[in-house]
Amino acid sequence: MNGLSKLKRYGHLVREEIVPGESVVWVFRPEDIAKIFKAEAGLHPKRRSHLALLKYRTDRSNIYNNGGLISTNGTEWWRLRREFQKVLSKPQNVIDYLEDTDLVVQEFVRLCSHEKADDFLSLFSRLFLELTCLVVFDIKMQSLSEKERHQNSRSSRLINAAFTTNSAILKLDNGPMLWRFFETPLYKKMRRAQNYMEEVALEMVTQKNQDTSICGKQSLLEQYLKNETLDIKDIVGMACDMLLAGVDTTTYTTAFALYHLAKNTDAQEKLRSEATALLKDRTSPITPETLKNATFTKAVLKETFRMNPISVGIGRILQTDVVLSGYRVPRGKDGYVIVTI
Ligand code: HEM
Repeated sequence: MNGLSKLKRYGHLVREEIVPGESVVWVFRPEDIAKIFKAEAGLHPKRRSHLALLKYRTDRSNIYNNGGLISTNGTEWWRLRREFQKVLSKPQNVIDYLEDTDLVVQEFVRLCSHEKADDFLSLFSRLFLELTCLVVFDIKMQSLSEKERHQNSRSSRLINAAFTTNSAILKLDNGPMLWRFFETPLYKKMRRAQNYMEEVALEMVTQKNQDTSICGKQSLLEQYLKNETLDIKDIVGMACDMLLAGVDTTTYTTAFALYHLAKNTDAQEKLRSEATALLKDRTSPITPETLKNATFTKAVLKETFRMNPISVGIGRILQTDVVLSGYRVPRGKDGYVIVTI
């Protein structure tokens, strides 16, 4: 049952026990959500997800220092997050890559105009893998090319590896977690997918680390390699996190956005008018000014996130007891809450 069905059936605060003895509380009221975030102010957020990925990476301490950003908690998470977000949140990085990302999107639009696909999902995955690798590694994968669209190509295998891992994560996190004791078939599937992703990430990081050429703009990877507080294992973990998180999230969100636009012709027309007002013709470049003024486009994206969030929510283990809608939710193991935003 998804979040919306739980809300409709049981109300704005729902306690669920999938694994006996382990409660998950679903929180839907904005006031309750605010209380949860206020309660963790000044503390590191405590999360419980991607546990099998955490095992996979901690078992391979020759390659990784930890489980990476997604599965790590506490001071080790903050050590990574502090450094990674300095670069990720710089608007200049978006501006530096605008021309290159625009070229990729134009190639994608050209391809869509002669491609008569019933389902564009796989093309979206190619688009977002290309954009992720461009911005993170400064590498052109050519994911949209005929050659790469072959099922055994590097881009096809990376897209499959991300999808296989993401599809396994929730199932491996819940239930009896037998993979802690022996290799279950699902854990094996995830391990193989991660082996491939890691192989490509290692190759890209090593290549960039040896590259001494100087270029005006710097990819995220180049900026991280220059950061003396990070080592190569931190950076390989980050590279894998980006490959894992960058494709399906954006692919499904775009698919939902187009679905809603197809069903809402008024919104579609308004979006088209905004685009034609901001761009002289269909090949006009996207500039920082275009992005600043694309207010309706941004609203469409936000509305898509609201209507079809691709994540079940934001998960937290409470670090103090919190009273939500008159109910005391205790801290600790029994207080795992999913905040749905
Ligand atoms: C539709 C787009 C996306 C959505 C809705 C989304 C959603 C989320 C959510 C809900 C979290 C958990 C946050 C928390 O626990 O506080 C998260 C974490 C993360 N996401 Fe995304 N994501 C998206 C796209 C991306 C992309 C494109 C990348 C990278 C290329 C990415 C990389 C990450 C990473 C590295 C984390 C872990 C951050 C940390 O623990 O500090 N995400 N994302």
